[in-house]
Amino acid sequence: MISETQIRSVISIQDLSVSKINYILSIAEDIEKYPTKYKDILNGKVVANLFFEPSTRTKLSFETAVKKLGGNTIGFDDISNTSLKKGETFSDSIKIISDYSDLIVMRTKFEGAPRLASEITTKPIINAGDGTNQHPTQTLLDLYTIKKEKKRLDNLSIGFFGDLKYGRTVHSLVEAISLYNPKVIKFIADNHFQIGKDYLDLLEKKNIKYIVSDTYINNLKDLDILYVTRTQVERIVEPIDIEPLKKKYTITKEILEKEGNKDILVMHPLPRVYEITTDVDSTTHNIYFKQAKNGVPVRQAILCICLGLVGEKIYG
Ligand code: CP
Repeated sequence: MISETQIRSVISIQDLSVSKINYILSIAEDIEKYPTKYKDILNGKVVANLFFEPSTRTKLSFETAVKKLGGNTIGFDDISNTSLKKGETFSDSIKIISDYSDLIVMRTKFEGAPRLASEITTKPIINAGDGTNQHPTQTLLDLYTIKKEKKRLDNLSIGFFGDLKYGRTVHSLVEAISLYNPKVIKFIADNHFQIGKDYLDLLEKKNIKYIVSDTYINNLKDLDILYVTRTQVERIVEPIDIEPLKKKYTITKEILEKEGNKDILVMHPLPRVYEITTDVDSTTHNIYFKQAKNGVPVRQAILCICLGLVGEKIYG
């Protein structure tokens, strides 16, 4: 039987129970507290970072995580330098790379590609973002950040703001936070970028209160967290002019002072484009840079767990 402390791959939040998520967060906390205990744990291990799509935070924080644990990385972030360019199949590439490495981290524009990879190889697969679908390691670091800042994950009021249609970080966080009995979830977006019906159905099934609105006005006062996302312009398939929407969907310090509350925390998976003005950076509402920093211990924890290096061995 697989115990709550055994996780092979991280492909979707739907594959993780509350106890598995809590376990990952507890290991991340331990790594932050006792880094030397973990500094050589990946000695001799090779992690393949396959970035078929651009990334700053996810790619570099995984690389940092591996190095802090004493392991090595291989990989690419430009497929034009790989044999995929010559027509090699995805399946053959995964087979070969899994013979060179102990674990594969993968970002791709194709939804379901990490799941497919996990059927091709027995090595652990970590989904570092697949199209508009999921970004589970971002969600784990989001939860870690919320827990650190609010001292709890349950009973929170959380607002999602911006591009809720194409933003994969929103999709995985909605699923994850729904496991922690939220007070209310608000979806604040232009109608074109609103959250999909599947997510509302999920909340209804769980009897979780939600509000769908096209404005932040009168919607921020009761929030613990405002989770802002950029418009995923690279994923928009239909012709739409986003210029007129920019002002209406930008959070400023003035808006937070007028519409928010003193304790509201503003999160953003980053990169930020225009949707949070820089005057918010110096306020106590800003936790988006801390959020990005937390990516390292959380990804360290994911690597240790998926490689079977923590559990009995360290905690036994
Ligand atoms: N949050 C996030 O996934 O950022 P990158 O695209 O820079 O990795």
